[in-house]
Amino acid sequence: MTAKTNESRPPGGGNLTWHRHSVTRGGREKQNRHRGATLWFTGLSGSGKSTLANAVAAELHHRGIRTYVLDGDNVRHGLNKDLGFSPQERVENIRRIGEVARLFTDAGLINLTAFISPYREDRALARSLQPEDFIEVHVDADVATCESRDPKGLYRKARAGEISNFTGIDAPYEAPENPEVRVNTSRNSVEECVAQVVAALEEKGIVPGNMNKAPEEE
Ligand code: ADX
Repeated sequence: MTAKTNESRPPGGGNLTWHRHSVTRGGREKQNRHRGATLWFTGLSGSGKSTLANAVAAELHHRGIRTYVLDGDNVRHGLNKDLGFSPQERVENIRRIGEVARLFTDAGLINLTAFISPYREDRALARSLQPEDFIEVHVDADVATCESRDPKGLYRKARAGEISNFTGIDAPYEAPENPEVRVNTSRNSVEECVAQVVAALEEKGIVPGNMNKAPEEE
């Protein structure tokens, strides 16, 4: 798979020019002393995506790595506040986040996205934008477990018919077939899941294995 860049797309109306900047991704990564990458957390509402993305970001931050979490509920308050939960709006939600994630990788950050992202095709599109730098993390917990947690009371509302198109109830979730990492939050603790994700990042050379202090302290 080759990376789709904005450079390869037809510029709007033929009147756009791509600018090359003198500060490059490589330069930013060198300054950061780590590479940029996207950790794409996908799973049902209540599966633990935000909790886990937040905890992994905290661990990486502690190691001196520059991070940013893009969280569905938060992004839907701003950039994507015009979008609801119809299939078309979810497609657009994920398309935008895929693009934003690619920008954050280009900025040299380890960015962590926490969106249900229920459709395989949309996650594949997000991956295709940065195939070398995309780590899909399936936050696996079955509907019954998520429903029993129901941290926002939304499953109850969905069952009562007060919300429609609710993922896992009356809208589909297409689980990843080959994610880089799969964590099971119904069987394992947050700490265990964080350790699993961080170990995968170390194994892939995305974060150094023995990097346990901030660069400034070296
Ligand atoms: S996605 O499907 O488009 O990826 P996203 O992750 O941005 O969803 O937003 C999901 C969050 O929106 C849920 O965690 C929940 O808090 C809230 N939400 C509100 N309505 C729905 C709905 N119909 N289905 C799923 N989540 C919903």
